[in-house]
Amino acid sequence: MRVTVIGTGYVGTVTGACLAYLGHRVTCVDTDLSKIEKLRRGHPAIYEPGLAELIPLANDSGGINFETDLEPSVRESDVIFIAVGTPPLPSGESNLTYLESAARGIGAAMDSSRFRVVVNKSTVPVGSGNLVEALVRDGILESHPDPADSIEFGVASNPEFLREGSAIHDSLYPDRVVVGADDPATLQTMRQLYAPLIEQRFKAPSFAPRPSNLQSGIAAIPMVATTITSAEMIKYSANAFLALKIGFSNEMANICERVGAEVIEVMTGIGLDARIGSGFLNAGIGWGGSCFGKDISSLLHTAAEYGYQARILEASLAVNRVQRSLVIQKLQEKLYILKGRTIALLGLAFKPNTDDLRDAPSIQIAEKLIQMGARVRAYDPVAMGACREQHPNLRITYCDDVLAAAEHADALVLVTEWPEFAGLDLKQLAMRMNQAVLIDGRNLFQPELARAAGFEYAGIGRAVPRPAPKPVSAGVAD
Ligand SMILES: NC(=O)c1ccc[n+]([C@@H]2O[C@H](COP(=O)([O-])OP(=O)(O)OC[C@H]3O[C@@H](n4cnc5c(N)ncnc54)[C@H](O)[C@@H]3O)[C@@H](O)[C@H]2O)c1
Repeated sequence: MRVTVIGTGYVGTVTGACLAYLGHRVTCVDTDLSKIEKLRRGHPAIYEPGLAELIPLANDSGGINFETDLEPSVRESDVIFIAVGTPPLPSGESNLTYLESAARGIGAAMDSSRFRVVVNKSTVPVGSGNLVEALVRDGILESHPDPADSIEFGVASNPEFLREGSAIHDSLYPDRVVVGADDPATLQTMRQLYAPLIEQRFKAPSFAPRPSNLQSGIAAIPMVATTITSAEMIKYSANAFLALKIGFSNEMANICERVGAEVIEVMTGIGLDARIGSGFLNAGIGWGGSCFGKDISSLLHTAAEYGYQARILEASLAVNRVQRSLVIQKLQEKLYILKGRTIALLGLAFKPNTDDLRDAPSIQIAEKLIQMGARVRAYDPVAMGACREQHPNLRITYCDDVLAAAEHADALVLVTEWPEFAGLDLKQLAMRMNQAVLIDGRNLFQPELARAAGFEYAGIGRAVPRPAPKPVSAGVAD
């Protein structure tokens, strides 16, 4: 099929490359010329493992090209994806200006040569399917005032569940494909588009092997067909629930710390319960990224529009806010005074394997430390360039490696659990530091090993070792 994907960010570029890899002919469109020029040279503007390798394979398979002009590719496309950003406004509402301009542009480019489906992949407030349809119609009317009736199109909602850092794996082997469509022709087009994915009719790329529970040629991926409104709601419910799960483990961690329990043991104990599941139960300094905070705020806003106060969602945001501030509290407990101290941050990205800094805890922690008079040094394997560019006024000293960051520092704070940090020589690090204090914001290290390496260690929700109690001798009277 002929496909246009509008927006070449984390979602659009991966979606476009995967659909082309499945055999569709894809054009990716973005208004940002610099991103398109980079992509034409084979360099994605974002860091996503495997993406640079996938693009040439996608080009050899269905074919993929990158453009700034929407019109020619929309004319030739059967399916047009909208994958533009929907960032939060200060009120918590989603900013729909990019979506609106894309939808109008699609309408303006349409003609009556074929039936097309406009698919919303951006995360949009419930009801946006209707908005997209109305805006596409506006676009059609603006550019074809007379024959607008003969231009046929359908609108679908196809929420995206990929995780940055494993986006290609998640897109080729999703747990499910959700398609919201209110008419049979639209649903049929979407089934046809996703058939190679659902039946796994493609050779797995070497860098993204097929999981052992999936077999090529067998309808293995469930497709959940719903109304447009339900599909929009599925995306928000999924993110709200995942954020809640992390928030719940953090709340348990805070209680564990007080009663002397070990949160990792507690979460293992509950995660093995099939009704709970083990994912997203890692306690730490809280979630970040472009989706959870924005989507929960947007859902709260929608609920309020309908006169409903979603208290669990409010609590989920509040728990996460408090969790980030634990780093400062733990540093104060260990160092007392932060003014004039040097704090080294390990990791800046909101999670490993991405350069995404949107709503990253690192930024808030660095800002707070600087405001309190501390000096901040940092090392991140991928996100330092993005941090310099996006936060030019943040007075961080960027270091070439972890050892350089730790040099003469008064404390290390593990902010992002990059796999390479797990193998650090803690003894060597401790020796470089002014004071060997380690705040493990992601519970990456084993406390006893960190302590044996010379660190004063504090994780999140971890039991502090106490001297073993003396054996009790019962029933022996003097
Ligand atoms: N990033 C994720 O992990 C993720 C996961 C699931 C869903 N989502 C949702 O997907 C959507 C896109 O997210 P993202 O992280 O890829 O965003 P992004 O900011 O990385 O990319 C959006 C792109 O759209 C482009 N754009 C904006 N207006 C345009 C227009 N009119 N025409 C063409 N291009 C235009 C921008 O230049 C930018 O390159 C959001 O709604 C987000 O909530 C994101």
